[in-house]
Amino acid sequence: MRVLVTGGMGFIGSETVIALLEAGFEPVIADNLSNSKEKVLDRIETLTGKRPPFYKVDCCDEGEFRKVFEKEHIDAVIHFAGLKAVGESVVKPLEYYKNNLDSTFTLLSLMREFGVKNIIFSSSATVYGVPTHMPLVETDPTGGATNPYGMTKVMIERILTDFQKANPEFNVILLRYFNPIGAHPSGLLGEDPNGIPNNLMPYISQVSVGKLKQLKIYGDDYPTPDGTGVRDYIHVLDLAEGHVASLRKFADKPGLEIYNLGTGKGTSVLELVHAFEEANGIKIPYIIGPRRAGDVAENYANCDKAKKELGWEARFSIVDACRDSYNFQKKNPNGI
Ligand code: WQD
Repeated sequence: MRVLVTGGMGFIGSETVIALLEAGFEPVIADNLSNSKEKVLDRIETLTGKRPPFYKVDCCDEGEFRKVFEKEHIDAVIHFAGLKAVGESVVKPLEYYKNNLDSTFTLLSLMREFGVKNIIFSSSATVYGVPTHMPLVETDPTGGATNPYGMTKVMIERILTDFQKANPEFNVILLRYFNPIGAHPSGLLGEDPNGIPNNLMPYISQVSVGKLKQLKIYGDDYPTPDGTGVRDYIHVLDLAEGHVASLRKFADKPGLEIYNLGTGKGTSVLELVHAFEEANGIKIPYIIGPRRAGDVAENYANCDKAKKELGWEARFSIVDACRDSYNFQKKNPNGI
């Protein structure tokens, strides 16, 4: 099965490409390299012995993107490509809505034209907005995203839902990721954000190698066991396997399905910091600062549906992820 992976040079995309190759699929990568580097392709080849076709293309550029569909016989698409920094989306809402929605409209139009009938969409736990209870299940209400990034995910889920309803021969799987962390155990691939990291784990990792001075914990007055924010941190390798399991689901012609991809366990900021310190035998200096606008107290998943219907569940621990993140950062102190 030839699988077009948009955004396949990114943190989650590249790990998924490796998992696809190891599972016998034939990935084709389309990425505009706006938040990744072409060297990632060399690392994929080093790790798998295979070099998948790569097209440096912006999914919003219909003329260029069309060439990929003309040249490659695509059976399914995994759509990662999109802008994804929560804080940046608040400052640049127009860019986020235009890029994330236009790329999806262009992709779906080309899929329909070329008869490609299977798509997995990289969605996010942010679609649940401010949750009313924990853990979150797929039937919980969505739509209350607290930032433009999250709203693009809400909108694209709706676009795909309506598209599938109008075209019942299409199969759509929405994967709602919780908090992806970790790196490839080899240390060759990992989270390598441009600029100062918005997310907790890459920030801790850069503190651990002295690239950043100390961590600022955004609030310790939440209604949680130790007062700091609680999230469901899932190893990126588990996330990649979730996509392989979802591709296999297309054989059942699922129509439209939604799955949470998490561990089912909540971990606080302080618990993650301490796990990182214990896993790697180092200290992470931190201070406590005020809460960050838009943050929720708790957010973690119920993943029973993915286990039952995909035969998938997270296998790696927080400690595994902390060890792999530190290993990656040490080997790539200035990124890939
Ligand atoms: C986690 C916890 C912060 C940084 C977002 C998106 C989600 C996904 C992951 C893309 C919170 C605290 C963080 C720091 C801190 N994005 N924190 N100091 O906001 O849960 O999720 O990123 O795939 O879709 O919504 O992740 O890592 O930013 O924050 O104390 O320097 O760490 O307050 O409690 P978040 P995060």
